[in-house]
Amino acid sequence: MFSLFRKGKKPAEPAQSAASVANTNATPTAAPARGTATLSPSGGRMVKVSMTVNGKAVAAEVDARTLLVQFLREELRLTGTHVGCDTSQCGACVVHLDGRAVKSCTTLAASCDGSKVVTIEGLAEGGKLHPMQEAFREHHGLQCGFCTPGMIMAAVDIVARRGSGVSEAVVRADLEGNICRCTGYHNIVAAVLSGAAGMAAAGTAKRHAAE
Ligand code: FES
Ligand code: FES
Repeated sequence: MFSLFRKGKKPAEPAQSAASVANTNATPTAAPARGTATLSPSGGRMVKVSMTVNGKAVAAEVDARTLLVQFLREELRLTGTHVGCDTSQCGACVVHLDGRAVKSCTTLAASCDGSKVVTIEGLAEGGKLHPMQEAFREHHGLQCGFCTPGMIMAAVDIVARRGSGVSEAVVRADLEGNICRCTGYHNIVAAVLSGAAGMAAAGTAKRHAAE
């Protein structure tokens, strides 16, 4: 299992959960205010957070130190977002936060209160792959696939920011924060350029349906 913490540092205690995730489409009726704090049974500082993840309203009470990637993977069981490092370098954890790509391994869940989050699980629409997912499949832009969710989320963000006519040089530069140990990047870059064309052909500059 990959560690979220640097060697030599005392790891944070496991996130405490009130197991009160409400994974429904309904607007949370008791959406807590940002930063609302209580004490956990162990004396830790707990905060209530609510956000929209892949179009669904969720709420939970978590340890204030809970990272967004922990919240997604351990509370919501959305394990498509990966953790590949503990230094904010690999990009395996990239998700979209309020329409922008972020590294969820260095984002506190509490700081996302009231925000919209989209993960790799939220890209496909109606059982149809997002054009960028389709492009990665078509161009074989993966081998082991570990980096792929973060690559695709970053790629969709690149096209949304740079436009569908984004150049190969810009794609290569903008993927600097995403590391792949397998592919040598050639097919990934080809997939991103193809995905950009696919997004244009789909007639949308949107990153995904949940946006
Ligand atoms: Fe490597 Fe987030 S897990 S940058
Ligand atoms: Fe294996 Fe990128 S496909 S790390």
